[in-house]
Amino acid sequence: MTGYEHLKHVVEKAKAAQCVWEKEIERMRRMKFATICVHGAYTATEAVRNNHGSIIEPVYSSTAQAYADSDWLEAALAYQIPAWAYSRIANPTVGYLEILLAMLEGYRSPFKTSACCTSSGMAAIKAATEPFLVDTKPHEKKNIVAMAQCYGGTYRQFDVRYGQERNIEVRWVKDASNLEEWAEKIDRDTRFVYGEFPTNPGIQIFDIQKVAGLVHARGVPLIVDSTIATPALLRPLEHGADVVVQSLTKTLTSSGRIIGGAIISREKIMTSIGCEEMREDFAGWVKLWPYRDGGPSFSAENAAHTLDSIKTLRMKADTLSQSALRIAEFLEGHGAVGEVSYLGLESDPLHGLAKKYMRLVDSGENRYGHLLSFTVKGGASTARRVLDRLWLVFRATDLGRIKSIATIPSITTHHQQGEDARKAAGIPHNMIRLCVGAEDTDDLIKELEHALQAA
Ligand SMILES: Cc1ncc(COP(=O)(O)O)c(C=O)c1O
Repeated sequence: MTGYEHLKHVVEKAKAAQCVWEKEIERMRRMKFATICVHGAYTATEAVRNNHGSIIEPVYSSTAQAYADSDWLEAALAYQIPAWAYSRIANPTVGYLEILLAMLEGYRSPFKTSACCTSSGMAAIKAATEPFLVDTKPHEKKNIVAMAQCYGGTYRQFDVRYGQERNIEVRWVKDASNLEEWAEKIDRDTRFVYGEFPTNPGIQIFDIQKVAGLVHARGVPLIVDSTIATPALLRPLEHGADVVVQSLTKTLTSSGRIIGGAIISREKIMTSIGCEEMREDFAGWVKLWPYRDGGPSFSAENAAHTLDSIKTLRMKADTLSQSALRIAEFLEGHGAVGEVSYLGLESDPLHGLAKKYMRLVDSGENRYGHLLSFTVKGGASTARRVLDRLWLVFRATDLGRIKSIATIPSITTHHQQGEDARKAAGIPHNMIRLCVGAEDTDDLIKELEHALQAA
């Protein structure tokens, strides 16, 4: 065999092996959501064929992959064959997670999806948005349109890193339920439109289908952060979003052991920016190019924690949502509580819209997630006293945990963005955000009853 023939043989052999695995993945894709959560791309066949039969995804903590000869090495580094040459770019354990995330966000959708995991949720937001900000000609105007109520870190990334440092105009949508406001902020210089569903901590949502319709009519991509809903309760790609962002740190890895993020995209995203390869498979393109060069990689150990947590995602989304609804109802009836924001409450102004979108996958029953916020009558100092009286619930700046966590957003997650931005996002000083965990709901209600005696 000549050198060229051998290289060709290597590529064909690797592609044939990939084809076998893709058939397995295709078969798994036809299973129901809970089954996919448990197995994903790590089927019994994949375990026996490539992983010594290990029943759980092994943690490939190795930095690099060795090859039989220089032809294999060359083909792998030239992206001619599926490989995990170097773990900053690709790693088998992270790969199992990426395929799983793509399967879950694209569940029952006719289009292909792909995913790229990152070192944090913030890195995912950067990876999902930065490719749209490239210059196509010198000194051109650019703007981005985003929901004002988004997570404080996202607000800072857009406002400071893009707005102040790179002179990109940031247009904040103040009332996300007002389609006219979205429409009037988008123009031909808009590079992307960004929404969170639901927002942290204000629990705001928007009509994804309608916003996607008007965003696409202008040839712009819609990016949705659905960290709090997860694909068990909401799948934005199905409703028209181009790219989904997940902070894996949060609900998807409920143990609280890792920091991570992911972008998941549908095939053929809407944008006039970038190359054809980027439009065709955005997350795959990010992984092979900007992610490789920028280096915000996710570790195999962390991927294994996320894989473990996702195996029970659907049942957690169901149970925690039911518990959160009971707690929201309790808070709503408590004399020391002002407003309660929880999408499952009939009194919530967004309840009707939430009913349309937030459904437990496969059952179709409405479920509204584990996050709620409420205000305490009496102002900021009373809210602090109530927070300080918690014993079972942890005081921390976190959410999505299997254990309940509470915080005051104005002094933590949304502190740095300042008073004006907090006002626009609807985050008063007496607001407490509660992330409902898997403790018994009766115990949590007793805990809140006790804490609210401080009001
Ligand atoms: C909705 C949402 N998106 C993104 C992030 C950022 O994620 P990370 O902390 O993993 O960078 C957070 C963090 O709280 C969040 O709540």
